[in-house]
Amino acid sequence: MATILDDISRTFDEFLLISGLTSEEHIPTNVSLRVPITKFSAGTESRLQLNTPFVSAAMQAVSGPDLAIALARRGGAAFIYCSQSIEEQARMVRRVKEHKAGFVVSDSNLTPDATLQDAVHLRRRTGHSTIAVTENGSNGSKLVGMLTSKDFWEFKDDLTRPVREFYTPREKLVLAQEGVSLQEATEILWKNKKECLPIIDKSGNLRFLVFRRDYFDHKSNPDELTDSEKRLFVGAALNTHDYMERSEALVEAGADVLCIDSSDGYSEWQCKAIRSVKKEFGDRVVVGGGNVVAADGFRYLVEEAGADFVKIGIGGGSICITREQKGIGRGQASAVLDVASARDEYLKEKGIYVPICSDGGLNNDTHIIMALAMGADFVMMGKYFAMTEESPTPKMTYKGRLYKPYWGEGSSRARNWERYKQSERPELVFEEGVDAYVPYSGPLEDKVNTTVAKLKATMCNCGVLSVKEFHEKAVLCRVSEMTLIEGGTSNVEQLDRIYTERD
Ligand code: IMP
Repeated sequence: MATILDDISRTFDEFLLISGLTSEEHIPTNVSLRVPITKFSAGTESRLQLNTPFVSAAMQAVSGPDLAIALARRGGAAFIYCSQSIEEQARMVRRVKEHKAGFVVSDSNLTPDATLQDAVHLRRRTGHSTIAVTENGSNGSKLVGMLTSKDFWEFKDDLTRPVREFYTPREKLVLAQEGVSLQEATEILWKNKKECLPIIDKSGNLRFLVFRRDYFDHKSNPDELTDSEKRLFVGAALNTHDYMERSEALVEAGADVLCIDSSDGYSEWQCKAIRSVKKEFGDRVVVGGGNVVAADGFRYLVEEAGADFVKIGIGGGSICITREQKGIGRGQASAVLDVASARDEYLKEKGIYVPICSDGGLNNDTHIIMALAMGADFVMMGKYFAMTEESPTPKMTYKGRLYKPYWGEGSSRARNWERYKQSERPELVFEEGVDAYVPYSGPLEDKVNTTVAKLKATMCNCGVLSVKEFHEKAVLCRVSEMTLIEGGTSNVEQLDRIYTERD
């Protein structure tokens, strides 16, 4: 007969944290959110750590290079998705690694013959008001001039006229040669009272732009996550098919951490993939495995496959229909608690700490806090990041509100990329993910800052100053339905809600 587990499957909403003693030292500025990503021996430090315990899901609608740059700058890491060609994924990783803090590859470029109307369209599309005018209209070709919003008036000038009549020509620009340091470039901007400094190579081709506002931005960004060469940190996903070829290209491109992207990681395919990649690259690569929802899956990936970290979660993702379609999965809270206890036991037995990541189904900041309190070292999120400015999808308007498309990796939309290559995989018989829209939430940095502020405030309430301490000291209780009702507002009218309902 089948085994029925004693406890029912539980979700984060079924728990509350009990506050602990908050002493004077428990203030947000004293809280560290630095967490390990790869396994390490007790008494030592993990050689790879996140400054903010958030990673983005390896999904087409989430983890492109722009989001990876923004997230690494805020202390977390993106996993560039593997549902694309090996070359394209490696190119994305390279783009993140080549992003020099402060040195921006211009994405708003026009030829001198383009019209002011083209400039207006470009400005609306990219949101950037500084446009480089180059010979062939791309970054990397000869710089001819710069066009900014000060050079023309959208509602006064004739928009059919060419930008060559309006831009500031190269001879009148303050420029710097490639090789200049960020500090030198900043000095040039400051001395010449300029907003933007184009950097050109010996042949006069545009290489980068350095902006005054980025200097201030950089100064106020102490959590930035970089590798030993001060390049931004980035992860990348592997599948269980072309993992040898793919991992080689990704390591070559500079990926700092790899992870097998699979809805069910308790499998011999995954074991084979992790073992083979680790055998090939040894300690040069960190490879995570998953997803699992119970202690035995964790043990298998750690002991048999040699995974460096393990991801938890089946069926909880916002776009996920795995539970409906296949009947497998587990409430995310139960899964995290079970795997965290297996991780702690493994540490006691073998003296090795294997970080675990709660992946999917984190629908609000409280869920993130609960996942970390219950033992996750870091969390992986899809929807949370898909909503931000930096995710790779375009914004769209519906009934006056802004949205972004968001689809699962198991939806036919995501799997379509394989149609165009020779694939050994079977045809998609059923979908495990949906194709949807999520509300636009603005820049990633603002969103992460709010979540971090709440997380640190809760940790202070619980009397802890690190995620490790949070794991050790968090006290949680299960909640009744009546407790949930009590936790909401009661007998008050919220005006914004009344107005929204009337709209
Ligand atoms: P979210 O943060 O709730 O949006 O969930 C994101 C997570 O859902 C990802 O990190 C994956 O683990 C998982 N996921 C991504 N695509 C699919 C899918 O098509 N079906 C089921 N799960 C998915």
